[in-house]
Amino acid sequence: MSGGVEKVVCVTGASGYIASWLVKLLLQRGYTVNASVRDPNDPKKTEHLLMLDGAKERLHLFKADLLEEGSFDSLVDGCEGVFHTASPVDFSANDPQAELIEPAVKGTLNVLRSCAKFSSVKRVVLTSSMAAVIYSGKPLTPDVVVDETWISDPAICEKSKLWYVLSKTLAEKAAWEFSKENGIDMVAMLPWWVTGPLLQPTLNATLEPFLKLVKGAESLPFIYPAWVDVRDVANAHILAFENPSASGRYCLVGRVLQFSEFVKLIRDLFPDINLPEKCGDDHPFASSCKVSRERAEGLGLNFTPVEETLKDTFESLRARNFF
Ligand SMILES: NC(=O)c1ccc[n+]([C@@H]2O[C@H](COP(=O)([O-])OP(=O)(O)OC[C@H]3O[C@@H](n4cnc5c(N)ncnc54)[C@H](OP(=O)(O)O)[C@@H]3O)[C@@H](O)[C@H]2O)c1
Repeated sequence: MSGGVEKVVCVTGASGYIASWLVKLLLQRGYTVNASVRDPNDPKKTEHLLMLDGAKERLHLFKADLLEEGSFDSLVDGCEGVFHTASPVDFSANDPQAELIEPAVKGTLNVLRSCAKFSSVKRVVLTSSMAAVIYSGKPLTPDVVVDETWISDPAICEKSKLWYVLSKTLAEKAAWEFSKENGIDMVAMLPWWVTGPLLQPTLNATLEPFLKLVKGAESLPFIYPAWVDVRDVANAHILAFENPSASGRYCLVGRVLQFSEFVKLIRDLFPDINLPEKCGDDHPFASSCKVSRERAEGLGLNFTPVEETLKDTFESLRARNFF
């Protein structure tokens, strides 16, 4: 135990894939954690959190919804650090404005308004996304290294009907504007495709493609095969809170791996899993982009090798009988 002894922090959307790991690591480091969930009476959303080491003594659940004004006040009150991860992750919303954009943007402002009310808050760590980085209009050619200066252009997201991407881009933009106007010390974490073992009992949207593959899909639905381990993402959030000199944005990408490399790796690890025979790296971006790890590594983050991440992902899915 270290780092967090006697400190109180909070995590929004605590039952989610990334946030569950964040809560686990924060408890491990000795923090007292206020955790928001939408429905504290739903065991599927809370049981895995309540079973974590240290939860009995130092985990407090709060009910909060992104769209309810003032919903996060009691969660944030008395906290030194606020980790805002809650945001809908849905790639097939029927009503993108209501299902994605409003909760992401209004919800983020709602959380930040609560932060501005309480002087206990020293830093906010926002879970943004590489979605808010790469759709800038700049070409993703092999000679280019994407870094934290890139910002997605909402007009490009809208034109391409990339509604989840738009929700993350607008939410981060609104968060920077509000933080600057209200003197909030905020840092933003920008993970790409997050994989690794899950703690929650239900399947989250970014692990779904793995099951589809096992069940016969010919390719992964994502065109950018840039991976990061969920445990690294959680750890990066904590490092960004604990390091006083942390500031601005942090790209979180462990490795870019082509689909054919991915399939070979899983076949070598799990010869009994049925994966497609044919796999096409058919998108021109798939092999070309590089992402800077400099700032993330400067925080002290050691990225987990992708082989280990994917092995743990598949083992975790299998152990939970998802296959
Ligand atoms: N997974 C990735 O590859 C990835 C990559 C980059 C960035 N991110 C970002 O990381 C964060 C967490 O994503 P995840 O992958 O862990 O997804 P997840 O498991 O679906 O978690 C999302 C969380 O947001 C909560 N939420 C959604 N709408 C809400 C609302 N109206 N009010 C309160 N809470 C609400 C969900 O609560 P319920 O459990 O009640 O639904 C859930 O706890 C998101 O901000 C996402 O954009 C994820």
